[in-house]
Amino acid sequence: MDFLYALCLSFATFSLCFLLFPILTASSPILNHSITPNFTATNMQFIDNSGAFLESPNGTFRASINTLESIHSHFYFSVIHVASNTIIWSANRNTPISYSAMLSLTIHGLSIADDSNRAVWSTPSFNSNIASLQLLDTGNLILVDAQNVSLWNSFDSPTDTLIIGQRLYVGTSLNGAVGNNNLSVDDYRLAVTSKDLVLQWKGQTYWKLSMEAKAFKNSDTPVSYMEMNRTGLYLFGADGSEVVFQVFLETSDTKIGRLGYEGVFSISGFMGNKWVQDFVKPVDICQRPFTCGKLGFCSNQNPTCICPTGFHYDAEENDACVPIEDTISLPSSCDESGNSGEFNSSTVYLELQKGMDYFGNHFNRPVNHVMNLSLCQDVCSQNCSCQGIFHENSSGSCYLLEYNLGSLMPMTFGEEGLLGYIKAISTVSVIPDENKKHGLAVSSLVVIITFSGFVLATMLVMIIIWLRKKRYDRMTFGRLNSFSTADLEVVSIPGLPVRFSYEELVAATENFNNQIGSGGFGTVYKGIIADKTVVAVKKISSLGVRGKVEFCNETASIGNIHHVNLVKLRGFCIHGKQCFLVYDYMNRGSLEKILFGNESNDPVLEWQKRYEIALGMARGLAYLHSGCQQKIIHCDIKPENILLHSDFQVKISDFGLAKLLSHENSKLLTTLSGTRGYLAPEWLTSHGITDKTDVYSYGMVLLELVRGRRNCLFQCSSTESDVSEGNGPSFISTSWDLGMVYFPLLALEMHKQRRYKELADPRLEGRVRIEEVETLVRVALSCLHIVPTLRPSMTNVVAMLEGRLHIGEPRVEALEFLRLYGGKTTETSRLLTRIG
Ligand SMILES: *[C@@H]1O[C@H](CO)[C@@H](O)[C@H](O)[C@H]1NC(C)=O
Ligand SMILES: *[C@@H]1O[C@H](CO)[C@@H](O)[C@H](O)[C@H]1NC(C)=O
Ligand SMILES: *[C@@H]1O[C@H](CO)[C@@H](O)[C@H](O)[C@H]1NC(C)=O
Ligand SMILES: *[C@@H]1O[C@H](CO)[C@@H](O)[C@H](O)[C@H]1NC(C)=O
Ligand SMILES: *[C@@H]1O[C@H](CO)[C@@H](O)[C@H](O)[C@H]1NC(C)=O
Ligand SMILES: *[C@@H]1O[C@H](CO)[C@@H](O)[C@H](O)[C@H]1NC(C)=O
Ligand SMILES: *[C@@H]1O[C@H](CO)[C@@H](O)[C@H](O)[C@H]1NC(C)=O
Ligand SMILES: *[C@@H]1O[C@H](CO)[C@@H](O)[C@H](O)[C@H]1NC(C)=O
Ligand SMILES: *[C@@H]1O[C@H](CO)[C@@H](O)[C@H](O)[C@H]1NC(C)=O
Ligand SMILES: *[C@@H]1O[C@H](CO)[C@@H](O)[C@H](O)[C@H]1NC(C)=O
Repeated sequence: MDFLYALCLSFATFSLCFLLFPILTASSPILNHSITPNFTATNMQFIDNSGAFLESPNGTFRASINTLESIHSHFYFSVIHVASNTIIWSANRNTPISYSAMLSLTIHGLSIADDSNRAVWSTPSFNSNIASLQLLDTGNLILVDAQNVSLWNSFDSPTDTLIIGQRLYVGTSLNGAVGNNNLSVDDYRLAVTSKDLVLQWKGQTYWKLSMEAKAFKNSDTPVSYMEMNRTGLYLFGADGSEVVFQVFLETSDTKIGRLGYEGVFSISGFMGNKWVQDFVKPVDICQRPFTCGKLGFCSNQNPTCICPTGFHYDAEENDACVPIEDTISLPSSCDESGNSGEFNSSTVYLELQKGMDYFGNHFNRPVNHVMNLSLCQDVCSQNCSCQGIFHENSSGSCYLLEYNLGSLMPMTFGEEGLLGYIKAISTVSVIPDENKKHGLAVSSLVVIITFSGFVLATMLVMIIIWLRKKRYDRMTFGRLNSFSTADLEVVSIPGLPVRFSYEELVAATENFNNQIGSGGFGTVYKGIIADKTVVAVKKISSLGVRGKVEFCNETASIGNIHHVNLVKLRGFCIHGKQCFLVYDYMNRGSLEKILFGNESNDPVLEWQKRYEIALGMARGLAYLHSGCQQKIIHCDIKPENILLHSDFQVKISDFGLAKLLSHENSKLLTTLSGTRGYLAPEWLTSHGITDKTDVYSYGMVLLELVRGRRNCLFQCSSTESDVSEGNGPSFISTSWDLGMVYFPLLALEMHKQRRYKELADPRLEGRVRIEEVETLVRVALSCLHIVPTLRPSMTNVVAMLEGRLHIGEPRVEALEFLRLYGGKTTETSRLLTRIG
């Protein structure tokens, strides 16, 4: 499933480019500087502008519902610096929304709701009604009332970024994000205090402006806010009349101060079209509190991270350094009552090497200056939030390490006497001195018992493995994982796909001479096997890194699936690096050939057959989705994969194959080029590939069945060799040029007007059942709903087509996105007005 996901992801990446193509050619709507209630926006709605719908008067900033470059499923309502495409503020940083989730502005406030219409972010309530939402040239997003009084502004809700003119007041802070791809608030913050500007990690200070050589202190007045202008950073006191601290910076018109996810505060100026860093704190990577994880020692050489003696890295503990000895562990929790729940008698202190220091020692005062080591440890033992101590013997200074330990750093000059001790819990109860011998006896007894237990267990496991192996030998492909490929030679079970030899296939296909098609998964040859059955032999081009056993496992699971509307797999063959699948041959070829075939003497596929094909496809898919033990998502429903047998019986092919291909497989491109136009919108996003994704593709194919031509407006490439241009306008007999109209959009418009007859393939010259055309169009539109959960299941589609289930009204608002996919919006609408 993971793999399927990855595959779908790479599909999605490609499809993104293809889908964007027509969008980019459309002209961008005009962006306003101010918006009035009632107003709603989704990313989809403003996709031509990358989600932007508001612009500052001189164009420096835009407000948009946007996504971070690499995650297409997480959208944020943000203010963006246009020239650098940098997010300077975002509303819902902790709760990203989907592309279809909505922002709304009413007279009561601005709010963002998720797909289930639950508010994830909103402005507070105000005393007067909102008149407009404006984006100023400073980058400030404001809500004003009818008297032009500002009710709310984004500058007052800082995120991780500060820009020129934005004030950071005492008691507020910038909060670092989890990472470049996740804007959620993490452990770092830059806080303005009445005396200073400080960086903190989980509440512990690791940098102060007052300790900087570059910072000039002008006054002792309590600080009230921090602000940047073109030339510097200032902490102002007394309502801005006095400068308390100042830091001079390179002059630039646009500056941002950002607290990065690694805990570094940097100020950059926008110069010559790029950000130039000016002020970076802390500079030394080892001065950052969590560079090497919990208790990792950051050494300035390189820099490198190592664990202190007596500790080792534990990946399960988020790469923290933990005591090597199993019987000793770091205190796990400290509840509100201050009791760790662990007995003080078992507390031990693990001494750190000389030269290791902790950032907290530079910012915290020692609890006492005249304590010997054992007293210092006692103080720590009695406080469960104390995680260790640093002690200086010569002065008697005792520093406590607070809860949440960070990384260790090299000692700075002048602190050489300081020694660290980490508090730990010994799970072996402390044995009084006089009983030491006895204790040893106990522990050796423990060792003996453990050891004999281990031997017994090992024997047991070996016996079980042996027994199971015997059983497996009599079983089939279901569990081929435990076989080497050599074992495959002997396995052959009636009813399951057989393994053909390469020679058999060479003979059957006359040395692969009779190619009948090719596609993303490889080339297909026609052949006749020994028992005179006609078969299609599919040569899988590349197996990627997953190997043959994987291939066989998949083959076995595909081979187990039998349904009248699915192509039957007869067998397979592995020859060196090549793999072959042997299917029953379908003598009428693919739906693509029959429907879009360009030979003028080809008979037109009659309506009744089309309806039967629609039903057969639906039944086959319904079986894949819910009929077999394991749900199978086809991932690539398109006319090329719908095969037809005598009397137009539908057989879906290539199911289960998506799993076989590795995503680095270059052939994927080919697969995709045949697929675009059938991809559901959620492929654009990295999540939510479900059976409903197939339903969408099915809907697209249904419309093509109705119309008899490809849906796509732009040139659809068919899979390689066969069928040059399926969508040539030659058979379009109506006066308007249908070749220019995106058919799904036309279907939607005609559905609104209940004009179904005009949608049917003109080559049929009216030989259709109008009520069936209506059924197919309505079912198809329901399948195309942008929100996957609004699409019917395939089982329900079958019921609708069989007339057992009422066909609901397609939701027009969930189909408006088709306008964007159709591209050339204006052109399409112009044509539509001509039609209407
Ligand atoms: C901008 O304003 C014009 C009229 O002033 C309006 O027609 C248009 O829809 C507005 N655009 C947006 C994105 O709100
Ligand atoms: C705005 O929407 C609210 C409901 O959300 C409605 O009560 C109000 O009448 C609408 N105002 C306008 C001007 O359409
Ligand atoms: C836009 O306005 C801001 C603030 O008035 C100003 O700093 C900036 O230089 C202006 N940008 C342009 C491109 O005019
Ligand atoms: C609203 O106030 C801002 C300053 O707060 C001013 O620049 C703007 O011109 C005012 N607009 C109107 C319509 O009064
Ligand atoms: C972002 O980080 C938060 C906190 O660590 C986490 O809960 C959330 O799942 C992350 N979001 C994504 C999209 O990774
Ligand atoms: C920046 O602010 C400081 C302190 O208020 C002021 O002295 C300086 O002139 C300002 N610089 C600019 C370019 O406005
Ligand atoms: C454990 O600590 C308590 C007080 O915190 C003290 O009374 C008790 O004697 C200690 N036990 C031992 C074994 O040190
Ligand atoms: C530490 O100091 C306390 C009192 O100040 C004293 O009782 C204790 O013996 C000292 N311990 C050592 C190891 O010197
Ligand atoms: C610690 O200091 C005391 C006196 O200040 C001294 O007696 C003792 O030897 C010192 N211990 C170590 C380990 O340096
Ligand atoms: C325990 O230590 C923490 C931090 O080191 C301190 O804030 C707290 O007051 C201490 N609690 C007691 C009871 O001493």
